[in-house]
Amino acid sequence: MDILILNGPNLNLLGVREPGIYGNRDFEGFLDELRKRYSQHKLHYFQSNHEGDIIDRLQEYGFGMASGIVLNAGAYTHTSLAIADCISAISTPVVEVHISNVHSREAVRHHSMISGVCRGVIAGFGLDSYRLAIEALACGAC
Ligand code: DQA
Repeated sequence: MDILILNGPNLNLLGVREPGIYGNRDFEGFLDELRKRYSQHKLHYFQSNHEGDIIDRLQEYGFGMASGIVLNAGAYTHTSLAIADCISAISTPVVEVHISNVHSREAVRHHSMISGVCRGVIAGFGLDSYRLAIEALACGAC
């Protein structure tokens, strides 16, 4: 199955950015491991710091180019009605992921604009949150 992993702003800094919260691994190394582990699937990857780029990619993959999308929208999670509208518009199921447990952090991170339009939410398991999202998509739970 084709799965798009889509990372939003500042997630290009994984490994460098606040390692106490996000860990000290960069995403590319982790992605290599995921691709080996899930070699039966085709894992596409895209990261952008720009809201419009994320929307463009959701639209591109959201009508059949992928069977599932794993989305960490970063801080746009808490602000972006435009990304929420896009997820509503596309037909591919989207799983919202977060590396940290957003609910144990500042109040501003407790609300997600996108949870209600995603098939499910996985948060707080470090980078393993992405793997758990792939499992959910691949087992047909979505
Ligand atoms: C995050 C949580 C967000 O609140 C934050 O803005 C991020 C990363 C996470 O993966 O834990 O950039 O989505």
